[in-house]
Parts: sequence; C-alpha cells; structure tokens
Amino acid sequence: MADWVKVADAGEIPAGKGKRVSIKGRALALFNLDGQFYALEDTCPRDEGSLSQGDLFGDLVQCPVEACKYELATGTCITFDASVQAFETRVEGNDVQIKLE
Ligand code: FES
Repeated sequence: MADWVKVADAGEIPAGKGKRVSIKGRALALFNLDGQFYALEDTCPRDEGSLSQGDLFGDLVQCPVEACKYELATGTCITFDASVQAFETRVEGNDVQIKLE
C-alpha cells in the first residue's frame, strides 16, 4: 500500500533549486525544475555526496562532490554505473508530496 506524504510547501523551493528533506528516517533530495518537483534519495552512492546540494543542468543534478550526474526522473547516474531511488511526486494545494511504497 502506497502512502502520499507531504515533504515540503511548494513555495519553499525556488525553481532550479533543491532541498534536503527527511521523511520516515530517510534523507531525500527534492528539486523544483520549472514548477515540476522531483525527489531522489539524497546520498550519492559513490562517496556520500548530498545530491540536494548539487546544481541542476536541465533534467540532471550534478553531485557536488565528484560531479557525477543523475537523471531527476529516474535516479540513474549517466556518468558511472549506479543509481539512487527516485520517488513519484505530486502537488496537492500548497503541499509537495511523495509516494512511499
Ligand atoms: S560523492 Fe557523488 S560523485 Fe562522488
């Protein structure tokens, strides 16, 4: 059974930026790409960089530690063989929610 869980107010993350959020003991990186929200596991598996601190390049986020790039929609790294979990998002009123399985 999936739960939709609020992780932020829509207005608290400017377009083109990310924010680290914690939900049920997990650290997630939430991004606003031109009004569309994306959520990834925050910790880069390569050397534990915080993806929420990374810069966006189109629909990619670049890890701030060693510059690996991840697809916002899938969590797939395009620069080495790894991935982080991606979460479905939606906006309900002013709430940004993610789907937890
Ligand atoms: S920690 Fe992310 S690329 Fe090294």
